[in-house]
Amino acid sequence: MLHDLPSVVTDELQRVHDELVQVNEGGLADYIPPLSEVDPTLFGLAICTPDGGFAAAGDHDVAFTLQSISKCFTLALALVDHGLEGVLDRVGVEPSGESYNAVSLEEGTGRPDNPMINAGAIVTCSLVEASSSAERFDRVLGMLSSCAGRELDVDENVFEQELATADRNRALAYFMRSAGSLTTDVDETLEVYLRQCAVLVTAGDLAVMAATLAGGGRNPLTNEQVFSSTVARHVLTIMATCGMYDASGQWLLRVGSPAKSGVSGGIITASPAQFGLGLYRPLLDDRGNSVRAVRACEQLAERFTWHALAQPDDRQLPAVLDEAAD
Ligand code: DON
Repeated sequence: MLHDLPSVVTDELQRVHDELVQVNEGGLADYIPPLSEVDPTLFGLAICTPDGGFAAAGDHDVAFTLQSISKCFTLALALVDHGLEGVLDRVGVEPSGESYNAVSLEEGTGRPDNPMINAGAIVTCSLVEASSSAERFDRVLGMLSSCAGRELDVDENVFEQELATADRNRALAYFMRSAGSLTTDVDETLEVYLRQCAVLVTAGDLAVMAATLAGGGRNPLTNEQVFSSTVARHVLTIMATCGMYDASGQWLLRVGSPAKSGVSGGIITASPAQFGLGLYRPLLDDRGNSVRAVRACEQLAERFTWHALAQPDDRQLPAVLDEAAD
C-alpha cells in the first residue's frame, strides 16, 4: 500500500507544476497520429519513495505510452536472464553521443553502443529468454507490470501505427543481423520492441516503477522483489550515462540522478534509497526529451539537492521527510 508523503513534498510538486505552466516550448512527436494529436497541455508529476510514500500533482493519472522508458525494464530482464557479462557480450554501455535512432554499431564487435538507444533496446529484447515471441513479450509485460504494481495493457492502435512506420528500426535490426549482433528473427523481435513501447502508464505508475529501481528492485506498492539490487544498480548506472541520449551529460550535471525519457513525453528519474519520480509532458525538445519535465526535474533537484555526487550533508530530501515526520 502507498501512503501520502508529507504535505511539504506535495506542496513542492504543486509549486513546480504551477510555476512551469508558462513553459510551452517544444513540439509533439509527429511520426504517428496518436502521438501528434495528444493534448499538449497535459502535465503530471508523481514521486514515490522506496517505503511507499507517494505525492503527485497535475495530470498524474492520465495514461500515455511508455515508449523508450520501457528500455530500462527490458534491460533489467536481460540482466536477470544473462547476468552483466552475458548482456555486455551483446550490447555496450558507452553513451553514443548520437540521436536515439542512430544507425551506428561499435567497430570491431558490431554491438550497439548501449541499451538505451533503439539499436541496443532491440538487442536486449532479443535477449529475453523465451520459446516464442509471444512468451517473450509476456515476460516483458510481466516485468513492466511487476514494477508498476498493477497489470499494464498495450495500446494496440499505437502498436499498429508504430509497426507501420518502423522502417528505420527495421533497417537497424537488419543491419545488426548482418553484423551478427542480432540473432533472433527481425520481425518477431521488432514486434516485441514496438509492443513494449506501446504499453500504457500514468506518471503515477512511472513514479512506482522508478521507486522500484530506487529501492533495489523491490516494488514499494506490492513489496515484490522484482529483481536484485545488483540488477537495479546496473540499470541505474546505464540510465545515468545514456538515459537522456545526447543530453545525458547536461542532465547529469544539472539534475544528477539516473533518468530515462520517452518520445511520448514521459521521464523517470530515481535516486537509490531516496525516491522515484515520474513525469509526463508531451512537448519535446530536439533531442526527444520533454521540455517541461526536464525543467521540473532541474527545479526539484535544486530544491531537494538529490544530485548523486552531492555531499550527504547537503541532501535536503531526507531532512525534509524527517522533519515532517517529527
Ligand atoms: O523506437 C521508436 O521509434 C519509438 N517507439 C520511440 C522510442 C522512444 O521513445 C525514443 N525516445 N525518445
